[in-house]
Amino acid sequence: MCGIVAYVGHKAAQPLLVEGLKRLEYRGYDSSGVAVLDPAGGGLHVRRAVGRISHLEEKLAGGADPLPPAVTGIAHTRWATHGPPTEANAHPHADAAGRIALVHNGIIENYAALKRVLADKGYAFKSQTDTEVLAVLVGDLYRQLAAEGGAARPDAGAVSSLLQRAVRAALHQVEGTYGIAVLSADEPGMLVVARRGSPLIVGVGDDEYVVASDASAIVEHTTQVIYLNDNEMAVLRAGPGRVASLRTTTIGTGAADGGGEIEVSPVVKQLEHKLEAYALGEYPHYMLKEIFEQPQALRNCFRGRVEQREGRIVLGGMSDRARDLVKARRFVLTGQGTAWHAALVGDYLMEDLAKVVTEATYASEFRYRNPIVEEGTVVVAISQSGETADTLAALREAKDRGALALGLINAVGSTIARETDAGIYLHAGPEIGVASTKAFTCQLAALTLLSLYVGRRRYLSQGQAQEVIDALCAVPGQVEQVLRTSEQVKDIARQFVDRENWLFLGRGYHYPVALEGALKLKEISYIHAEGMPAAEMKHGPIALINDGMPVVFIATKGHQYDKVMSNIEEVRARGGRIIAVATEGDADIGRHSDHVVYIPHTIEPVQPLLSVVPLQLLAYHAAVLRGCNVDKPRNLAKSVTVE
Ligand code: G6P
Repeated sequence: MCGIVAYVGHKAAQPLLVEGLKRLEYRGYDSSGVAVLDPAGGGLHVRRAVGRISHLEEKLAGGADPLPPAVTGIAHTRWATHGPPTEANAHPHADAAGRIALVHNGIIENYAALKRVLADKGYAFKSQTDTEVLAVLVGDLYRQLAAEGGAARPDAGAVSSLLQRAVRAALHQVEGTYGIAVLSADEPGMLVVARRGSPLIVGVGDDEYVVASDASAIVEHTTQVIYLNDNEMAVLRAGPGRVASLRTTTIGTGAADGGGEIEVSPVVKQLEHKLEAYALGEYPHYMLKEIFEQPQALRNCFRGRVEQREGRIVLGGMSDRARDLVKARRFVLTGQGTAWHAALVGDYLMEDLAKVVTEATYASEFRYRNPIVEEGTVVVAISQSGETADTLAALREAKDRGALALGLINAVGSTIARETDAGIYLHAGPEIGVASTKAFTCQLAALTLLSLYVGRRRYLSQGQAQEVIDALCAVPGQVEQVLRTSEQVKDIARQFVDRENWLFLGRGYHYPVALEGALKLKEISYIHAEGMPAAEMKHGPIALINDGMPVVFIATKGHQYDKVMSNIEEVRARGGRIIAVATEGDADIGRHSDHVVYIPHTIEPVQPLLSVVPLQLLAYHAAVLRGCNVDKPRNLAKSVTVE
C-alpha cells in the first residue's frame, strides 16, 4: 500500500528519494510524488504524477522546471483510498500557504469534520484526500503559533520547533491512523515524523536520517534503525552530533493530555537483512526467486528450533509463556489472505498434534463479531508483513478481552510482532513479490513447530513427535525436488492458459492448499479460480464443469485418497480435465488424470509444505504466459494497512 520515504542530511535528496520509492513499488501504488526544500531559501517544491514512478521521473527530469538541489525532502507512493488516483490527490500535500508539505500513510477518520472547520475559516482544498486536510490543519496551527510569538528557531532544540508544535497540536485533533513525514520551508534542514498505526522506521546514518515505511527503502543507506512506536514523534535534524541526541516524544491521544508528554532516547536496532536479500539476482521475477528460496527459508525457520536427535522443539520466543500454552483451552488462528490459508492448515495441525480446540478465522470477521474470549484463549496472529490492519485490529481486540497474544510474523520489528506477548519469527527473508509464497510455507512450518511444542506438553508422545520432526527435517530437500518439476508445470500451464475458469480441490490438510492454489492463480494471472474441499464440489460447483475445464486435485496418499479418486471420476465424467498433484510411486493416478505432478512421500501433516509448491509454480507460469505483471499485479498491495 502507500509508502513513505523521507531524507534529511547532506546528500542530494531527490535521487535518494526516487530510488527509495522504487524499492517500495512492490507494495502496490497508483501515483507518487516528491517535495524538497530549496536550501537557498527558495521555498518548497512539489512534483507528483499518476501511474508508475517512471512518470514521476519524467516530470522530475522536465527540463523547463527542474527541482533545485536539495538535502531535505519527502516522497510518497499512494494507493488510493479517498479520491481517485489523480495528480491532485497524490502526495505530498501542502498547506494553504505552500510552505509546509507532508506525506501520510493511514486514514484520518474525522477528516470530514476537520475539513468543515477549516473551510469555515476560509481554506480551500485542491484534492479529495484526508491527507490534504491534515496538511492544511498543520499550516493553520503553525500560523497561529507563529502569531502567538513563537518564532521558528530550527537550531535551538526540539521543543522550540514551531513545526513540531504545530504537528503535535494537529495530531491531537486527529482520529484514525497515520505515519507522517512533514517539512517546512521556514525550518529547513529538519523533518518531523510521527506514527500511530502505520509503520515508520528512522534509518540513522552518518549525520543524516533516511525515513521510510518499510526497511527495503533504508537498507541501502544504513542498517541502524529506530522503529517509531505508536503515538511517537521525532524531530530529525541533520548534522554532527544530532543523531546521538535524538529524542522521541509521545503524542497524547486527546487534547486533554497535551501537556503530559514524555521524551525518550530511542533504541537504535540493527536491521535483520542486508541489501543483497532484496536483490532480484538471476531471476526474472521476485515471485520465482521466492518460490525457489523456499528450501533455504525453511532451513532458516527450523534453525535452532528443531532438535532432531533429541526429538525436541525449542522455541525461544515462547519459553516465558510455555505454562500458559499448556493450560490453554482454545486457540484462535487469525490472518488475512494467504496467512488465513495458513491458519486453516494450522487448525488441522493443532487439533491433530496438540489436541486442543482450535479455530481459524479471518481477522476482519473476528474483530467485528463480538467474539467470545474465555479464560485460556490464545490468539495467534499470522502475518508476513506484521502490518495488516485487519490482523492488527483482531489482535488488539483479543488482547483487550484477555487473550494471550502470539504472533507468527516474518517482518522483524513490525507492529504486530511488537504487540504480541510471544511469538515465532518466520525467518523467510524479505518477501517482495505481492503473491506470498515462501512466507506461506514458513507459516506452515512455524505452525507445525507450535503444534509440536504445545502437543508435547499435552498428549503427544515422544514417538509421535519424533515422526513429525523427522518428516519436517526432510522437507527442505524434498521441496528442492518438487522445484525440479517447474518445466513440467510450465508445460501444463501452457495447455490451459486460455481457460478462464479453474477449480482447485483437496480434502483434509489439502483443502486450504486448494484455496491457496486458487488464490495464487487469480491474483497474478487474473484467471477466475475457486478452491474448495473436494466433497463440496457436488453441492453446487459441479454445475460449472464443462468440456475441457481444468480441475486441479491434490490427490496425495493419505486416508482420504480413495474419496479424492471418486471426486476425480465425477469431474472426468463431465468432461473436466484433471491436473493431479500426487505422491511419487502412485502408479494408479496416471490412468485417472490428464497430467500428474509428483511430489515426494511424507506424512499427512507435513504434506501441505510440498503440495503447495507445484500450485505456486502453476500460477507463476500461467501469469508469465499471459503476459501479466507477476510481481506487481493490478489493484493489489503487498501489505494492506487499511481495514
Ligand atoms: C495482502 C497480500 C497477500 C497477503 C495478505 C496478508 O492481501 O496481497 O499476499 O496474504 O495481504 O498479508 P500479511 O502481511 O498479513 O501476511
